Amino acid sequence: LLIRGRVLTFVNEPSGVDDTASYRFFEDGAVLVRGAAIVASGDYDRVKSLAAADVTIDDHRPNLVLPGLIDTHLHFPQTQAIASYGAQLLEWLNTYVFVEEQKFADPLYAASIASRFMDELLSNGTTTAVAYCSVHPESVEAYFMAAEERGMRMIGGKVLMDRNAPEALRDNPQRSYDETTRLITKWHNRGRAHYAISPRFAITSTPEQMEVSRTLVAENPDCYVQTHLSENKDEIAFATSLYPDAVDYTDIYARYGLLGDKTLLGHCIYLDDREISVLAETGAVGVFCPTSNLFLGSGLFDRDRFDRIGARWSVATDVGAGTSFSMLETMDEAYKVLQLQGQRLSPLNSFYRMTLGNARALGLDDRIGSLHAGADADIVVLDSCAKPAMELRMRTVKSLVEELFILQTMADDRCVAEVYVAGNAMKGKARPEAAPTGR
Ligand code: GUN
Ligand code: FE
Repeated sequence: LLIRGRVLTFVNEPSGVDDTASYRFFEDGAVLVRGAAIVASGDYDRVKSLAAADVTIDDHRPNLVLPGLIDTHLHFPQTQAIASYGAQLLEWLNTYVFVEEQKFADPLYAASIASRFMDELLSNGTTTAVAYCSVHPESVEAYFMAAEERGMRMIGGKVLMDRNAPEALRDNPQRSYDETTRLITKWHNRGRAHYAISPRFAITSTPEQMEVSRTLVAENPDCYVQTHLSENKDEIAFATSLYPDAVDYTDIYARYGLLGDKTLLGHCIYLDDREISVLAETGAVGVFCPTSNLFLGSGLFDRDRFDRIGARWSVATDVGAGTSFSMLETMDEAYKVLQLQGQRLSPLNSFYRMTLGNARALGLDDRIGSLHAGADADIVVLDSCAKPAMELRMRTVKSLVEELFILQTMADDRCVAEVYVAGNAMKGKARPEAAPTGR
């Protein structure tokens, strides 16, 4: 398969709008795919000469061809809880999320939402995501089955929670150990699946369950770890009151051995310099979730402080506190959150972050996030003129960087013209089932 279009892929983090060395752009470009992998990418004439004479050509000109987008934090069982009104974090969890997540005890319900969830990611151009499932192992089965059916590289895991939640959503230390261990054995590195050990956050785990998390991480050093950190002021006060020996919120997780270079920490809004330094030293990643942080009124992620201290960060939707599955819409809000703090996010950096940047945050940049030879053929095709207002604005465009900024600011899923997963075009293959009403 030869995918023709205006090809854009990053090789490094852009330092600003003039950093042309950070990316490769081919106005008449192509990506040659054999099976599930990329064989070559670059100028159309050169790449075409490497292909068989009868190669199938998907001609997407004048659309942009990029690596598939990557989302580093969201909640699969909150697909039907997006846009739940009027509450900040703890009240929102208790009022809406802990009600919705109980439905995932039912494997049929879980399977039906998992299918819709994967299709929604794909229609927004996201080919890899890191998601929390519910406390029920059935939800993890549904999640990885739906990903496997579509050939997607997906990361996820069962949340561990044994207090401060309804009875029906609580496991216990032994059960969380046994179920997580069984799920890792079954799913971790099966095909394109990767497991994330997922203690929800300090508030919903007893010290005994945090000890279990420590053991799971020690026994499975190759798995991801995900949790939430420092999102909301009431949450911080509650969490630190439950762990009086810890010097701050970050220290709770540090004490239980949960911080390392495969650890993803959602939000990280109110960290002080000491805490960000701990992330820098351990290699843990702070995950910036702009639509969620605005929606729940949580606060503003201080990207410049992460960069100054040298800590890693990634970007994510955080659906269902996040209000969109679209990484493009997410970067639009990221730009605004940084604007409110006098910080700048260049369009090049946005597109780097959604692709190679997030792939690096996951340590998967050899496989995804760029179009280098040998990479997985996860590819998105973006149409900068998909909406009438965009088409009108695009008539005045003078540069690639300007076009990227228009895409980031105005795009939604209408701009995703095609998405390839492991070399397969998925746009025509989405088969939404009737959604359960849940009523
Ligand atoms: N903190 C603990 N659980 C959650 C969740 O589901 N969403 C968000 N935004 N924060 C959390
Ligand atoms: Fe979250």
